[in-house]
Amino acid sequence: MALKEIIKGTGIVAGAYAVGAALGKAAKEKKIEELPTGLNQVAGLVKVNLDLGDDYGNGAALTPPMGWSSWNTFKNRINESLILEVADAMEKSGLAGAGYNHVNIDDCWQSAQRDANGRLQADFVTFPGGIASLAQRVNAKGLRLGIYSSNGTLTCQDLPASLGNEDIDARTFAEWGVEYFKYDFCNHKILPLRGPCIEKIAVGALGSGAEDVYEAEDAVLEGNAAIVDYDRLETGKYIAGLGYGGGAAVFPQVIAEEDGPHALTICIRKKSHSEKFAVVEVNGEFACDTIFPPTWAVVTKEGRHQVTVNLKRGVNSIKIYNPLASRFDSSAYQYARMGKALQKATKEYSGAAGVPEKKITYSICEWGFNLSWKWGRKAGNLWRTTLDIAPRWASILAIYEINVRLWKYAGPGGWNDPDMLEVGNGGLNYEENKAHFSLWCMMAAPLILGNDVRQFLKADGTPDTENTAYRIVTNKAMIAIDQDPLGAQCRRIETNGVQDTLVKPLAGGEAAICFFNKASESRPFQLRLGAVAAKDFVDLPFAESYEITDLWSGVSQTVGDAISCNVAPHGVRVFRVKAN
Ligand code: GLA
Repeated sequence: MALKEIIKGTGIVAGAYAVGAALGKAAKEKKIEELPTGLNQVAGLVKVNLDLGDDYGNGAALTPPMGWSSWNTFKNRINESLILEVADAMEKSGLAGAGYNHVNIDDCWQSAQRDANGRLQADFVTFPGGIASLAQRVNAKGLRLGIYSSNGTLTCQDLPASLGNEDIDARTFAEWGVEYFKYDFCNHKILPLRGPCIEKIAVGALGSGAEDVYEAEDAVLEGNAAIVDYDRLETGKYIAGLGYGGGAAVFPQVIAEEDGPHALTICIRKKSHSEKFAVVEVNGEFACDTIFPPTWAVVTKEGRHQVTVNLKRGVNSIKIYNPLASRFDSSAYQYARMGKALQKATKEYSGAAGVPEKKITYSICEWGFNLSWKWGRKAGNLWRTTLDIAPRWASILAIYEINVRLWKYAGPGGWNDPDMLEVGNGGLNYEENKAHFSLWCMMAAPLILGNDVRQFLKADGTPDTENTAYRIVTNKAMIAIDQDPLGAQCRRIETNGVQDTLVKPLAGGEAAICFFNKASESRPFQLRLGAVAAKDFVDLPFAESYEITDLWSGVSQTVGDAISCNVAPHGVRVFRVKAN
């Protein structure tokens, strides 16, 4: 789908955009190592099969997170002093008081070298005091520090990232006292969708040097799993059909002499040069996951693939399966894995250090390539729905056109993320800046400022209330729309392609109405409030008259059933409506 068509606001479904246009050129730029190639993966293009269970539910981000991020303005030119100056400006300018409480360091804070224990380290020169001390200094200003990594082998700026290091990195961030974590998608690797061919498993207490063997026929097979005869293996059989979320092998009678760690050796038939993936559950609980390397079966036909699992004394059940049927599943799985690691790490750190738990708001940044809105709520607190924003009107509009359609996925604890704000940056004029901010508030989007907020202070250290970007982002009535406790994203109730009418239900039976004019000349808008009250997703009562407040002029008035107004080019008018 051409960007032009998105900008024109003509029919495009977000999913099609995400898996189509975005995957092409952008994917190459973002260096995703593996894109769908095989037939099964192509078939999986429209499927999210994985059941991640309950919502993320870490108790953070009950309203959309607010704060600042270093990326949009500073990119790789960041350092400790800048972050402290920004935190200071946020405190003194009143941004913190208005709700912007996260100070997020984006990419480029890391040294290329992990420490001797494999922990990430901040750049020794640009962040000489390290992240833990920076977090404390930011906390002292009443603000919370955020940090960044990628769900890949390297970040987008080629620095060390967290794929394969989820647990240690989550523990490190928890120890540092970080309270926001953005997890990018560069250099990501899709997990194998194939499953291992299992001849048998062998289980033995660690250190015993002995193991008991359970053959293919000892397993209860689920789904597509089936026993295949193969006389070049010692037992003459193996279990196939464990790939693509289609089947499982359950060994229900695994005996352990004692409670404790055991070696579980999955004896496989070496087959094909592809990697395989499996999850191991013990007694109905996740125990571990493991990637089987590509095999070379010329000399030996069978291989031992070993993991350790905890067993209880007596009879145990061990289930082995690959739950991933598509690359969507793979992304959901990997983002959820990091989310679980973060929750575990903050709890454990708080217990060990005897300090209150600092919950980490978990920001999934996979650009919507794998339909993040479908699984994001179960994996984290917010999920990017598009590629990167730029401080240009075309970018704001393109992102809005995708994100506005995703209203049903947003709600307390989990938000569509149309990317950080560009208010005050680049070539956006006053109306465009105001429209950008208003649309983000209507869409219950995270409000993460991306400008140089130090410019919001005058030389004497007081807020520059004449600064237009400052006036826009500190409009308390508009922020209240974004932060409304109901947590509903607006719905577009009318559009002719260039004029959109958006309605956002608010707590207490109120509603916000936004008239958005994409045209390059002023346009008139009319709306019957009775038509809004009639919508089943709005609790606004039918009434003889309504009080409407224009959230940019601050003017309130009482009207009957009709609202009409003119809207400037690339502009909005936003009203808060209450029945009298
Ligand atoms: C990606 C993300 C951006 C930013 C950069 C950092 O492009 O989408 O928001 O974090 O990486 O390298």
